[in-house]
Amino acid sequence: MKQKFYFGRVKSRKISKIKENSFKNFLKKNNINKLKNKNKLILEIGIGMGENLIYLSKKNKKKSIIGVDPFINGTVNVSDYCINNNVRNIYLYPYVFQKFFNKFKELRFKEIYILFPDPWPKKRHQKRRLVNEEFIKKILKRLKKKGKVFFSTDNISYYENVKSILKTISKIKIKKLKKIITIKTKYYLKAEYKGNKIKSLMFYY
Ligand SMILES: C[S@@+](CC[C@H](N)C(=O)[O-])C[C@H]1O[C@@H](n2cnc3c(N)ncnc32)[C@H](O)[C@@H]1O
Repeated sequence: MKQKFYFGRVKSRKISKIKENSFKNFLKKNNINKLKNKNKLILEIGIGMGENLIYLSKKNKKKSIIGVDPFINGTVNVSDYCINNNVRNIYLYPYVFQKFFNKFKELRFKEIYILFPDPWPKKRHQKRRLVNEEFIKKILKRLKKKGKVFFSTDNISYYENVKSILKTISKIKIKKLKKIITIKTKYYLKAEYKGNKIKSLMFYY
């Protein structure tokens, strides 16, 4: 049986034909297969509406930033921003990360961001969580030397679970981050509004 990798909505609001077409053109033009500078790559998995991706693209003008997320309203939002602001260092992959990793096996990243992945708080749903042992092992293999992974969540059980998985991996270095990792994304703001404690980790070899 085919494994299910995505449990969220692919689309929330309706997307106009014009936006859909310019999104398709953007994907063609900014094709990951045509990436030039493969030495300076940053990856974000689960970009949501893309606030962090856009922030990273401004902060790292000489690096290429790849955003992976099947949520179309988010990827269309980012492509729209790139078209209107002449942003050239963002690449989008509008499918699940599992597909991305299978397709682009050769890419290695200086930084990987996973910010506020869906928490799936109910015990029976926790197996849907994106960041599990298999995921962590996969992303660590895709890091460049001295590359770093950044993870944030406001779900304490998710945080503790990730931390305990990391502790079983030999030679890995784990750092708890007190300050905000990048900018306040939509889900960062949601967590703040609810008064939830936000926990962040950086890990690397
Ligand atoms: C709770 S949102 C957080 C979005 C954003 N990082 C933020 O901080 O606002 C989680 C995102 O992860 C995406 N996602 C879920 N499963 C995924 C998968 N298998 N591969 C890539 N993205 C995924 C969802 O579509 C959603 O946009």
